[in-house]
Amino acid sequence: MLFATRACLVCHGWNAVAGGGAPDLRYSPAITDAATFRTIVKEGGLKLNGMPPFPQFTDKELEDLRFYLRGRRRASRRRTCSAWRPLRRATPSRRTSPANGTS
Ligand code: HEC
Repeated sequence: MLFATRACLVCHGWNAVAGGGAPDLRYSPAITDAATFRTIVKEGGLKLNGMPPFPQFTDKELEDLRFYLRGRRRASRRRTCSAWRPLRRATPSRRTSPANGTS
């Protein structure tokens, strides 16, 4: 398990930010589906895009890893929300206009 996460961290680094062009695995739709995850991680489905295959993983290890990532996603949800809040529009919108011809 530790070995696996370290192997992925080199490129995916989900404790901080995703680095090196590799996506943050916590938010990847690939971790919600066992077959997709297996194709990408074990069989090299994205090899041409820079994601190396890990044929040494057993199916059990793949599932452990996938559930670990899903757990991390759940744990990070609250933090993600508060991080996004400052990006919301600070000024009130002026969508209500009196000049629409009706009264
Ligand atoms: C050499 C760097 C590197 C390593 C090491 C690496 N990855 Fe990747 N991975 C990538 C890159 C780059 C992509 C993006 C491929 C693309 O854009 O299609 C990727 C994509 C993925 C995706 C698909 C994400 C998505 O939403 O498209 C999954 C799942 C994934 N990696 C899992 C893993 C796992 C699990 C490990 C550890 C066993 C790992 N990766 C190790 C570079 C790496």
